[in-house]
Amino acid sequence: MDGLAAGNRVIIGGQWGDEGKGKIVDALGRGVDWVLRYQGGANAGHTIVRGGEKIVLHLVPSGLLSEGVRGYLGNGMVVDPWALRDEIIELEERGVKVRGRLFISAAAHLLMPYHRRIDECLESRRKRRSIGTTGRGIGPAYVDKATRQGLRMGDLLLPKENLERRAIEKILEANEALAALYEAEPLSAANIAQELVVLARSFAPMIVDGHEALAGVRLGRETALFEGAQGALLDLDHGTYPFVTSSSPSIGGALTGTGLPPRCLGEILGVYKAYCTRVGNGPFPSELLAEEGDALRQLGGEFGATTGRARRCGWFDLPAGRFTAEFNGMTGVIITKLDVLDTLPEIKVATGYAVDGGVLDRFPAQGDLLARCKPVYRAFPGWLQPLGACRALADLPAAARSYLEFLERELATPVVGISVGREREEMIWTPGGVSV
Ligand code: GDP
Ligand code: IMO
Ligand code: MG
Repeated sequence: MDGLAAGNRVIIGGQWGDEGKGKIVDALGRGVDWVLRYQGGANAGHTIVRGGEKIVLHLVPSGLLSEGVRGYLGNGMVVDPWALRDEIIELEERGVKVRGRLFISAAAHLLMPYHRRIDECLESRRKRRSIGTTGRGIGPAYVDKATRQGLRMGDLLLPKENLERRAIEKILEANEALAALYEAEPLSAANIAQELVVLARSFAPMIVDGHEALAGVRLGRETALFEGAQGALLDLDHGTYPFVTSSSPSIGGALTGTGLPPRCLGEILGVYKAYCTRVGNGPFPSELLAEEGDALRQLGGEFGATTGRARRCGWFDLPAGRFTAEFNGMTGVIITKLDVLDTLPEIKVATGYAVDGGVLDRFPAQGDLLARCKPVYRAFPGWLQPLGACRALADLPAAARSYLEFLERELATPVVGISVGREREEMIWTPGGVSV
């Protein structure tokens, strides 16, 4: 079948990000009225491959590559207007019309150049204990939001002089903090404020009152696909703190980050790789090191879509996956990159952790405990044949089906989609799950 039945859906990364959410949103985006981003910012890198051509989106919702879809950047986001301008220019040069189809909540926060600078300074001060952020200024922008000092997209609608004055004030304040805390060079307040005024003029037609803009979704007259960024294990509250991002990539973020009520969410689909990756620092019990990790990285092309960094690679972590499926209330899971395992004679899954003399079968909330966990593996035979051309469950070799059935059973959630390549069509849809 061609995709899943029509209706609203939330797409959530079930691991540490880069699960292939962009591809899935693109595949499910056809025919929906809205694709909504609800958290994060340009730290996201969502890749879509069409006819061999690769497009990486950071702020613009992945659904915009489908005709007739409108995109929305929710109040829960931190939007870097410089990055957004560049992304729109690049997309329009490649023939994707963005203007007139992309709307931004007036309550979304502005991510300013000083946020990037502070992000860099904080990271270099943390030295060996750094988080390994994307350097996009995300944490500092959310700090300003939480301390009620931020500028918002709606401020771009202020009269030119007022906006310029407010921006200069903020930049000068940031310069003071940069000098006092990090002995960092000041940013040019006048230049940045003037650039912002120019950007404000070009973004003004896109800035909307979110409550009004999404009225059709609220009333059930329009459909929405919520595009989560990052992954549930990077959630500020529920993830592997402090090695997390500063937003809520989980189900709660879909509500607070759009202002839509729970009944608008529809299905909650978790996207998981058939193995696991993490970029940045922090515990990762099923990580493969040295040659084993390198081999998986090469097979999966695991290099960051935003920063180009080599992603840490390892086996599927069941306690972690079960945890994210449970706390997000996932109604279905989509397993991506199954084809990456095509040539491996043996595939492992971490089913629990050996720690402190015992075995733990759940994901521990305490970071220091997780850091001591050693994986307990169950091995599966590989299928040793290419899956790229499979389009139905029946096309998959028995070994691949057993692996998926095991994941479905252990995650206690139906596997509703299996991705076997980078292109939109390289998918197997299994709305009824994979176990017969
Ligand atoms: P996202 O951040 O979750 O959207 O994921 P990224 O785009 O950062 O990383 C996923 C990478 O895997 C991209 O390069 C995709 O083109 C690629 N990809 C997605 N699904 C598949 C798949 O099923 N098979 C293969 N081989 N690559 C895939
Ligand atoms: P997508 O949407 C993978 C990671 C960073 C770092 C931590 C904090 O493409 O899946 P931040 O810049 O957010 O303050 O960094 O979070 N991180 C991601 N890892 N995919 C992402 O996005 C990520 N966005 C942030 O590497 O460990
Ligand atoms: Mg990514």
